[in-house]
This record gives sequence, structure tokens and C-alpha cells, in this order.
Amino acid sequence: MKAEILKVLRECGDYVSGQQLCEQLQVSRTAVWKVINQLKEEGYEVEAIRNKGYRITSSPDIITKEELASRLDTEWAGQEIYYFDEIDSTNTKARQLADQGAPHGTLVVADCQHAGRGRRGRVWESPKGKNIYMTLLLRPEFSPDKASMLTLVMALSVYEGLKETVDLDLKIKWPNDLVCGKKKVVGILTEMSTEIDYINHVVIGTGVNVNLEELPDEIKDMATSLLLESGGKQKRSAIISAVLKHFEKNYETFIKTCDLSELQEQYNHILINKDQEVQILGEKEVYTAHALGINEKGELLIRKEDGSIVAIYAGEVSVRGLYGYVS
Ligand code: BTN
Repeated sequence: MKAEILKVLRECGDYVSGQQLCEQLQVSRTAVWKVINQLKEEGYEVEAIRNKGYRITSSPDIITKEELASRLDTEWAGQEIYYFDEIDSTNTKARQLADQGAPHGTLVVADCQHAGRGRRGRVWESPKGKNIYMTLLLRPEFSPDKASMLTLVMALSVYEGLKETVDLDLKIKWPNDLVCGKKKVVGILTEMSTEIDYINHVVIGTGVNVNLEELPDEIKDMATSLLLESGGKQKRSAIISAVLKHFEKNYETFIKTCDLSELQEQYNHILINKDQEVQILGEKEVYTAHALGINEKGELLIRKEDGSIVAIYAGEVSVRGLYGYVS
């Protein structure tokens, strides 16, 4: 009921009478009053004026289940939410929930992770109360070889969600990092459980550096936060709900063809590596090439120095700029 009251108050933007809340949500006046008090305790500022009703004047930067549910505008993404003040890793939790039968679209979010994981076995710094750590559980019906493209679908969706909420010049670094300037602000880790020819589940974990004032020395040359770049604090719940809305729409587009043919143009438009000289770091070789953009499979098309054009697959290589992480 808390989420419903929050939603009505937020969407109205003006005073809503206690009577209207009672009738709309089929609850007693005392129940409404109790929820309003709980909201105030959680940091929401709610004005209560006799003969007018209640109005929300500000909300805290929290990402509880009720806060997120009250903002969500989706059919299936995030319709089931698990929120944790603290957890090892939202990806690990989402995989456990998947094994227990959690449905397609389940969202796991945490305020802090003590074993946040990045790609290639790296640690993902996950301090409390500052950033977004979220994992979306999917149960696709397409074959396992298509699943890695979902990471690119998420990268595009995070870009679109952030564009709605913060005024920054963001780009995608292939395949799935989001960068501002030359520094990373978003990382995505996709993991899946499959049989030979079908997918049990896919979990897509996204970490966004949002309100971090300072980064650890080891990564501060390569990473940044929305706060450091824009100078302003962001509401994490607004970002999460915008990302889910875009992901749901892009996912529906993706499953029409089970490839990126309808999303490729948008993706290439914001791809920082496009038309740039890049360094390809393979298992056995390192070489320079000219990046052209992704194809419908999400592979990066590059022109080698001998003029040949080849498609490279994200699982096999990393891409860097000639002089650093991006350029
Ligand atoms: C990367 O290395 O770029 C990927 C980072 C992914 C981090 C996110 S935070 C939420 C989810 N839980 C994890 O343990 N990792 C992902």
C-alpha cells in the first residue's frame, strides 16, 4: 500500500485528500495516516493541510522496493522487486532466485555490495548509499548463442535512461561500458545458465557510479561518477525506473528478430569507438585497426591495416583506444 500511496501522491504532484486516497486504495483513514508517518520517517517530506490533504514536496535518495515500485512504468521489467540494504552481489542473488523459480523481469537491487563482481574476475567497488547495483533476471525463449547481445541491449537502455535523467555527454564503449569523457561510469555483467539448446535464465547486472564524490586511487584515472561529471546529485530510483522502461521497450524490439538489426543504428550512433583507431587486445596478439561500428550480431566491425574487414566478438578480445582506455 505504501507504494500505491507514493505513486498517487507523486503522479498528482498536488494535494490529494485523505478521503480520495481511502476511496482509491480501499483503505481506512488510519491506515493512510500510518503510511504517511512511515514515509516521513524514511525521509520523504509530506505536507499535510487541513481541507486539502497530502502533498509530497521531496523524496530521499533511496531505492527501496516501494520507492521503485511507485515510479515504475513497465509491464514486466521490475514487477517483482527484491531490495537489500546490503548483499554480496545482486547477480549472485538473482541467480539464486532464478533457481528458486523467480519470474522473468525480476529485479534485484542493493544499496551496497560486499562482493560486487566485474567482468574478467575483477572486483566492482560497491560502497553504500551512493551508486546503483541492480540485476535484471530474464527467461528468454531464444537459443543461448543470442544471449550475449542482451548486454548491448542493456547498454543502450542505460544510455537512454540516463539521458532522460541527467544532462551529460555519455557514450558507449563497445561492447557494454558507458563512458563520460574518457572515463567509465557504467559497467554491465551478464551471466547465464543454459542447457545445450535452451536458456534457463540470464541475469544482467548493471553498476552505475551515481553520487560517488571520490573514486579509489587504483581506478580514478579510468572511472568517474555522474556527480563528479555533472556537479549534481541524482535520484537513483528515477534512473532505475527510466532504465527499466527503456530496457523493456528495447527487449521487445530485440526479440522480434533475435538480433540487433533494429537497434544497431541507435547503438552505433552513440558508440565512442566508431570511426576511431583502436587497439585490439586478443589472447595471442595485439594490433591496431579502424573501428567501423557493430553489425546485427553485436560484433565490432574493424578494418585491419591490410584493408580487410573482420567482425570481432566481445568474448574473445578487448578494445582500447590507441593511448588509453578510450582514445
Ligand atoms: C564490469 O566489469 O564492467 C561489469 C561490472 C558490473 C557490476 C554490476 S553491479 C550489480 C551487479 N552485481 C555484481 O556483482 N556485478 C554487477
